[in-house]
Amino acid sequence: MKNLMNTDCLPILRIFPYDWGLATRIKTRLNLRVRNLKLLVTGGLGFIGSNFIRHMLVKYPGYEIINLDKQTYAGNPDNLKDIEKNPNYKFICGDICDSKVVNKLMEKVDHVVHFAAESHVDRSIEDASVFVKTNVLGTFTLLDAALRHNIRKFIHISTDEVYGSINQGLVCGN
Ligand SMILES: NC(=O)c1ccc[n+]([C@@H]2O[C@H](COP(=O)([O-])OP(=O)(O)OC[C@H]3O[C@@H](n4cnc5c(N)ncnc54)[C@H](O)[C@@H]3O)[C@@H](O)[C@H]2O)c1
Repeated sequence: MKNLMNTDCLPILRIFPYDWGLATRIKTRLNLRVRNLKLLVTGGLGFIGSNFIRHMLVKYPGYEIINLDKQTYAGNPDNLKDIEKNPNYKFICGDICDSKVVNKLMEKVDHVVHFAAESHVDRSIEDASVFVKTNVLGTFTLLDAALRHNIRKFIHISTDEVYGSINQGLVCGN
C-alpha cells in the first residue's frame, strides 16, 4: 500500500487524514507546481475549508487566497485567526448565491475550490430550502461565473449526499 502512495501528497494528507483519495485528487487537479496561483476558496471558515487554506498558505507562500464565506452557524472565524493578517489572504463575507459578488471575485482568480455548503444534513429535515439555495443555486452561480471568467480549474468538494450513492462498485472522483 505504501508503495502506491505519492509522497508528494503527504502534507495534504495531514489535513485530510481520513481520505487519501480526496487529498490526491485536490493536489492533482490544482497542478500545485503552478507558481503564484490565485485561488478563490468558498466556505473557508468551515471545517475542511479552513484547514485547506491554512495548509496552502504555509506550503505555498506565493499563492493568493480569497475566502468567500457567508459566516453561517457553521463558519467559525476563529478557525483562521492565526492567518488573518497574512497579506496573501483576504476574507470576504458574502453569499455564493450572490452573482454580483461571485462575478467580481472571479475576475481576480484563476482557480476555484468550492467547499461552501449546508453540510449538516439533519437540519434539512426541519427546512430544506436553504440547502437547495446554497448547495444547488450557489454551486450553479459559481459554475456560471467560472465559465464567464475562464477559470482554469474548478474543484467542488462535496459528498455522496449531493452526488448520490451507488448500489455497487466504486466511484472515481475524476
Ligand atoms: N466534514 C466532513 O467530514 C465531510 C466529509 C465529506 C464531505 N464533506 C463535504 O465537504 C464540504 C465542506 O464540508 P465542511 O465540513 O467543511 O462544512 P462546514 O459546514 O464545516 O462549512 C461550510 C462552510 O460554508 C459556509 N457557507 C454556508 N453557506 C454559504 C453560502 N451560501 N455562501 C457562502 N458560504 C457559505 C459556512 O459559513 C461554513 O463556513 C461540504 O460539501 C460537505 O458536505 C464534508
